[in-house]
Amino acid sequence: MKLTRKIRLDPSTNSNYAEFNVKHATLDIKVHFDSKKIAGKVIYKLSAKRPNTTEIILDSSYLEIVKIWINDLPTDNYKLGARKYSALGNALSIALPTTYNDDFTLTIQFATTSQCTALQFLDREATDGKTAPYLFSQCQPIHARSMFPCFDTPAVKSSYTMLADSSYFTLMSGRLQEAKKDGKWHFEQPVPIPSYLVAIASGDIESEPIGPRSRIYSEKPGLQNCKWEFEQDTENFIKIAEKLIFEYEWLKFDALVLPSSFPYGGMENPNITFVTPTLISKDRSQVKVMAHELAHSWSGNLVTNSSWEHFWLNEGWTVYLERRILGRVAAANAKEDGRSNYEEVGEQTRHFASIIGWNALVESCKASNFTSLIWDLSNGADPDAAFSRIPYEKGFNFIFYLETILGGTKEFDPFIPHYFKQFQYKSLDSFEFIDALYDFFKKDSKKKEILDSVDWDTWLYEEGLPPVLPQFDTTLADECYKLANKWIEQSSRGNYDFSEVDIATFDSSQHVLFLETLEGKLAKSDNTVDLVGQLQRAYPFYSQSSNGEVKSRWSSLTIKFGNFSSSDESIELFANWLGTVGRMKFVRPGYRLLRDYVSEEFAISTFRRFEKSYHPICWAMVKSDLKL
Ligand code: BES
Ligand code: ZN
Repeated sequence: MKLTRKIRLDPSTNSNYAEFNVKHATLDIKVHFDSKKIAGKVIYKLSAKRPNTTEIILDSSYLEIVKIWINDLPTDNYKLGARKYSALGNALSIALPTTYNDDFTLTIQFATTSQCTALQFLDREATDGKTAPYLFSQCQPIHARSMFPCFDTPAVKSSYTMLADSSYFTLMSGRLQEAKKDGKWHFEQPVPIPSYLVAIASGDIESEPIGPRSRIYSEKPGLQNCKWEFEQDTENFIKIAEKLIFEYEWLKFDALVLPSSFPYGGMENPNITFVTPTLISKDRSQVKVMAHELAHSWSGNLVTNSSWEHFWLNEGWTVYLERRILGRVAAANAKEDGRSNYEEVGEQTRHFASIIGWNALVESCKASNFTSLIWDLSNGADPDAAFSRIPYEKGFNFIFYLETILGGTKEFDPFIPHYFKQFQYKSLDSFEFIDALYDFFKKDSKKKEILDSVDWDTWLYEEGLPPVLPQFDTTLADECYKLANKWIEQSSRGNYDFSEVDIATFDSSQHVLFLETLEGKLAKSDNTVDLVGQLQRAYPFYSQSSNGEVKSRWSSLTIKFGNFSSSDESIELFANWLGTVGRMKFVRPGYRLLRDYVSEEFAISTFRRFEKSYHPICWAMVKSDLKL
């Protein structure tokens, strides 16, 4: 069916990136913990694509520009434009004194300011160890421009040299070189990467090995727990991913467990994945986040969406690969347990995760204004505001649908390495992905017919749930559904017979599905206050859980359907929890919950109590959620 190609340049950059090729970038910075700034130089080796190019425009946001050189000659011929769209920052336009037919270098000396959105500086007292201050960055999607002047678009990739002068141990998104260079921490990233994958963390950080090519980094308190959480799975995940796609290109896969204000679950910074400390649950129940960030080593980091309008390409593919990896782990475990249907168990596991994802998609579609696969980010739309689970889960469903109609994994699998090889080191849009799919399968006329039958435009541009609903295997979900149904039945009779035995064998994702399913049913029933009271009595496990995934579902269900006021202890505890986690996945819905089901006043006073501890991105998002 019809495929409309809306091909355009990245609307989320002010730069004239399409005019240049970047050969190499050197970022040479000093971390100033006292003034909470980084300052230094960025040096680009680049060439104009066309002769007669007279100007180079870079992205910048809240940066101080100190001095600029072209081929080592200083120039004053530059200006910072007005902040036309708040999210996009200021264009930094630099006149080229002559036209250059060959490579030239552009050197910019700059400093960040207190308004920088990419960096969070933590005082010593705000860290776990309290032995040193801490700095970390989060550049995706468009915050790199507040850390250094750059072509801040995923369409531009280059190799990087990264140098950091810091009094504390420092990690950046490249290969750590053994010897310091001029007293600076030195990293090389030979694989071309976009600006959003540049990252830095500095503080009292130590490490332990978690596999033959992997180390885990964190502050010293808790380091052993971090090691335990990931040492069993990390290498296994890499090996499985390599079988599914191809060899891991980046040599080392290390991860850093950040302080609690890190705003995401994980961030796939090359060679040094950043993760939230909420993953350290002492039961390895959240290693899937590591599988996800690892999968980005291919989808996102090697093969990159060419603008944030095609963000689903990064995340949909990554969720797809993550679930393939976890399916194979489950199959291997079942095989070890001597189960003859181990392959089936692997698929059931993948489908179970997809069901939880589907529920998240349904919920997100109710709450988001960006529910189509390809986003429209024109006129300065903020990609942070478009962010939700939709690109992940609608994107996953798109690829899963293609896998299904093309004949299942056996038929689809050869396409995976083909696609990632074809686009490695490059950036692409949704249309190039579909073209690659056609190219690969068109030799088989039946498969070409199948592809011709796909309703491409609806998948790519229509709002809301996908045009074709998936059929997931519910074997592992049925237990959760059954228990939720039993609660609804018994509550209608006003007679409850439940105990902790009911949920004793559940793993954490079954708890999640049970609680979500029950919450969905409560929306349609009476007696909810009664039921919530019974639930609290029967399953004290839930109120005590420190697993963020469980805790957030439990709080949502009980606060929405119980009868609480801001003076109740459980509300107080929940509000305090919002001050200790910085992961937006928990923080944002948490404040919305307080706003809608306790009171707006209480939500705001709680936010005011904790706002100083949040990361600037999280702070801005909650502020906008609460309309402050
Ligand atoms: N790349 C994302 C995080 C991100 C996306 C940061 C967009 C900024 C802008 C990362 O890979 C991710 O998806 N993290 C998830 C993990 C999950 C899906 C397993 C998260 O943070 O919850
Ligand atoms: Zn991701």
